[in-house]
Amino acid sequence: GSTVKVALLGFGTVGSGVAQVLAASKFPGLQLTHIFNRNVERKRASAGAKFVPASVVWTENIDDVLKSDVDVVIELMGGLNPVEGWLRKALTAGKSVVTANKQLIAYRGANLAKLAGRHGVQLVYGAAVAGGVPVIPGIRQGLGGDQLTRLSGIVNGTCNYILSRMEAGADYATVLADAQQLGYAEANPSADVDGFDARAKLCILSRIALHAELDPDAVATQSISTVEAIDFTYAKELNCTIRQVSRAQVDGTLVHARVAPMLVPLTSPMAWSHGTQNMVVASGRFGGDVVFSGHGAGGEPTAVAVVSDLLAVAQGCKAVELPVRKRETTGEFLAPHYLR
Ligand code: NDP
Ligand code: HSE
Repeated sequence: GSTVKVALLGFGTVGSGVAQVLAASKFPGLQLTHIFNRNVERKRASAGAKFVPASVVWTENIDDVLKSDVDVVIELMGGLNPVEGWLRKALTAGKSVVTANKQLIAYRGANLAKLAGRHGVQLVYGAAVAGGVPVIPGIRQGLGGDQLTRLSGIVNGTCNYILSRMEAGADYATVLADAQQLGYAEANPSADVDGFDARAKLCILSRIALHAELDPDAVATQSISTVEAIDFTYAKELNCTIRQVSRAQVDGTLVHARVAPMLVPLTSPMAWSHGTQNMVVASGRFGGDVVFSGHGAGGEPTAVAVVSDLLAVAQGCKAVELPVRKRETTGEFLAPHYLR
């Protein structure tokens, strides 16, 4: 048929955000048919379930998805196991995969992309770096013509939320707990604060932008958990603040790569990044610096990236048209617009 059938694996912060975005936008030609999660009754009773059409099959059996006729599997569970094995089966069965899983793509992305290519399907992961900020599609589609030599910026929303609130006087343990409660942090928040999440993202970006395959375990990584209130006082004396910064730079056949809490001048746009705001600067030989910025964590911003990937895949595999309506125009604005 002409409908693209979609399954969701994982109905947590991002999975339920995807259901919400799909329900709000009702893209013609897309149909959510399956939701897989453990303890599925708990998920059916969760707040996000109200966005799920009654026709959807909720299941705890992964074979209900893998052996079905769904065209696209969206993976929003996280971790390497059992996810990698399941996604290999999905790709082999001719299903395209959309995922937000940084660890999987950093460690296994090159291998999975080959598998997808062998089976003529797509593997896309725009949400895996910087949540709702289109850094991956922007670099792939907009900067592929440059020779990129350097990446730098903020790619972990939880650390940025923690450090920007500590800068305003809040205490580390309280703001970490808030970040978990708001759905920004990883299931084990050590991945955020100790830098493993950011280094996975840096490796994904290095592959795409610098054409360099890095071993995530070999990237110099320093935790933000040792940053204290007094450090912000000293930073301020130097006209600086503190952010978790990720950097990779090509140097001949070598790539310098590091994730660490760093002093950032108060005049730098990185110092103006508050809350979950991420920022990536991609520097090229011909085009100079290009800046990507926006919300790097949270259910709704991340769901936008996932659904955008889904639309791109669906448009590639079948003719899914976006609904466009004719509108009148006016030069009047209701209110000034400020970034939030
Ligand atoms: P959550 O923990 O909120 O959701 C994950 C869901 O998957 C939960 O419902 C969980 O069930 C289910 N799940 C996990 N493992 C299994 C398993 N083995 N079998 C069955 N169900 C399982 O995570 P998020 O939604 O925050 O994140 C999902 C993915 O998106 C991760 O890869 C994360 O790194 C990535 N991501 C998250 C962002 C964010 O802002 N939250 C932003 C960008 C990417 P249960 O409730 O029982 O644990
Ligand atoms: N835990 C991640 C973060 C989610 O805080 O950036 C987005 O990848």
